[in-house]
Amino acid sequence: MHAPVPEYDPDDLYEAAESFVRQCYAELEREDEIDDRLAEIRASIEETGHYEHTYDEIEHGARMAWRNSNRCIGRLFWEALDVIDARDRDTAEGVFDALCHHLEYATNDGDIRPTITLFEPMVRGERQVRIWNYELIRYAGYETDDGTVGDPDELAFTNYCRSRGWEGEGTDYDVLPLAIQMRDHEPELFEVPDDLVLEVPIAHPDYDWFDDLGLQWYAVPVVSNMRLAIGGLQYTAAPFNGWYMATEIAARNFADEDRYDVLPEVAEGLGLDTDRNRELWKDEALVELNRAVLHSFERDGVKIVDHHTAAEQFEAFERREAKVGREVTGDWSWLIPPMSPATTHIFHTTYDDTITTPNFFYQEPPYED
Ligand code: ARG
Repeated sequence: MHAPVPEYDPDDLYEAAESFVRQCYAELEREDEIDDRLAEIRASIEETGHYEHTYDEIEHGARMAWRNSNRCIGRLFWEALDVIDARDRDTAEGVFDALCHHLEYATNDGDIRPTITLFEPMVRGERQVRIWNYELIRYAGYETDDGTVGDPDELAFTNYCRSRGWEGEGTDYDVLPLAIQMRDHEPELFEVPDDLVLEVPIAHPDYDWFDDLGLQWYAVPVVSNMRLAIGGLQYTAAPFNGWYMATEIAARNFADEDRYDVLPEVAEGLGLDTDRNRELWKDEALVELNRAVLHSFERDGVKIVDHHTAAEQFEAFERREAKVGREVTGDWSWLIPPMSPATTHIFHTTYDDTITTPNFFYQEPPYED
């Protein structure tokens, strides 16, 4: 996962291309094309030190990368990933337009479509595009005299944006600007247009006081800071999204002490004694928060999955992969949901955490973290 970008070497590039092309075309039942395609790639690398993927290769390669994502519980749907080719965008404005399109297409008025947009990969070891944001939509974090406002996880990136002249309103939910870097230039900042940011105010189905917490979250998590590796090519800008599993928002983003940290307030609303661990006030607050998130997304017609259903879907994925003779790799500590993990089969299963490519890899944050 944390693998650094491999050193550029044309021989390694060909080798990685070959193993990808063989697997990709075999899966697509187009084995008859392999020899010609490999000859073409070999000639291109010999002549230019580089090669380009066809659309079919990025489409299937990106889907394979999702299928190989050991930490993802949502992989049953890997074949339904929509792959948008934006490799021709050679200015920050062009990239920004494609990101706006991604948000609109993926959000789809709440009927979320798993989508990835690919920008130009590295060429002969030189990076072409990098999006500095962790996700296309995320909330700013500010250090103030009365503690942190907004998302504490975004303090560093928010500071970078402010150093570039951006100012947020200072609420708990200021959408950060997009910071788009072309080659080795300083990133350009763009506001995300309001109408592209679908948000869900969080209410509880039974408790009116829940509204007073003023919680909200955005509908679509579009991870934008990872590198997608396909056939030796490094797509350093390849933002992708699925839909949320409620625990990501309710049991982590809202609940973690170093994030929005709302469990004490929720427990207080529920009238629980937060001085006594054995009241299980955290557990009860977590359940009600998750109920509220699921209820609110459903109320607004925004696609979301609960962790029990997601685990069942993952089990279906495991069965389907076994049927076609592929090994499912996984990272147990990430696959188990952060609530009631032992109620899912995942908890009682062991997974082999071998990393296969195509896959997504973390990149160093480009700003001071
Ligand atoms: N956990 C991240 C968040 O809370 C999102 C990661 C991707 N999640 C997904 N359901 N595709 O924003």
